[in-house]
Amino acid sequence: MKGLILNNAYYETPSTLYQSERLAAELSELGVSTDIRKNDFFGAEIDGGKLKNTARGYDFCIYLDKDKYVSYALEKLGLRLFNRHDAIQACDDKAVTALRLADSGIPMPLTLPGLLCYEPTAKVSADTIDYIESRLGYPMVAKHCFGSLGKFVYKIDDRRELSDMCEKLRCVPHLFQKYIAESAGRDIRVIVIGGRAVAAMERKSDADFRSNIELGASATPKELDGELRALTERAATLLNLDYCGIDILCGRDGYLLCEVNSNAFFGGMERATGINIAKLYAEHIVKNT
Ligand SMILES: Nc1ncnc2c1ncn2[C@@H]1O[C@H](COP(=O)(O)OP(=O)(O)O)[C@@H](O)[C@H]1O
Ligand SMILES: [Mg+2]
Repeated sequence: MKGLILNNAYYETPSTLYQSERLAAELSELGVSTDIRKNDFFGAEIDGGKLKNTARGYDFCIYLDKDKYVSYALEKLGLRLFNRHDAIQACDDKAVTALRLADSGIPMPLTLPGLLCYEPTAKVSADTIDYIESRLGYPMVAKHCFGSLGKFVYKIDDRRELSDMCEKLRCVPHLFQKYIAESAGRDIRVIVIGGRAVAAMERKSDADFRSNIELGASATPKELDGELRALTERAATLLNLDYCGIDILCGRDGYLLCEVNSNAFFGGMERATGINIAKLYAEHIVKNT
């Protein structure tokens, strides 16, 4: 058995390298060799009306990228992707994740997908601002639909800030969300592999309402209670994910799903909990290839 570990063509950091190398090492322990490659070989070429097979000789691919054209092509060519193309797409866009999980009984903060604008000179109407304000109150949260590491998540404190944010995000896919004050600077990250919650940590920041480790939050292991387990396993199963990291907010009336990361880094979780996430994922991949 041979695997391909694919990373984005342009984005390479110590975290992405660590992720690839840890997975390669654990797969090697199981007797599976892998190539770690950048996704820069134009794997989605259509030539003479036919899809070109540029990734021959592999039995599976750990797709650490989010490039939707190549994941679509590789899957169409019959390669088993971890995660699958559709599952990555559903997580990449936070509004799509919320829409997919809606009506499944999974609690989430009140979320308004932002109105998409295709006209750079258009103006945001007062009615739009009135509606968002009346539904969410202040403070509220705005997020880019495509974003990670806390980079494009904002707190809005008043109408002036909301109006400025609406203008700023007008031509960017975005959403507005109720601010969960009880969870300020604190959330729970859960890793789910093959439909089973395997590790959890609480992330805390004293400096920011966002509890991303990359923004300086600290992490401590968290026991997986029944409710946390049920919620995260259900979300991962509904989204057909082999592997994910789910962020959970702690609201007044219980847990709320914040977002699902199909390509969650596991280094922080391994350090906080001592659980060998890479090994568990490698075992899942071998079993399911
Ligand atoms: N609705 C919210 N209310 C309170 N805090 C939030 C809310 N949404 C996000 N946060 C905080 O911001 C962090 C980043 O948001 P998240 O949606 O996970 O985006 P990212 O993909 O950038 O991690 C979360 O881990 C949480 O601490
Ligand atoms: Mg997050």
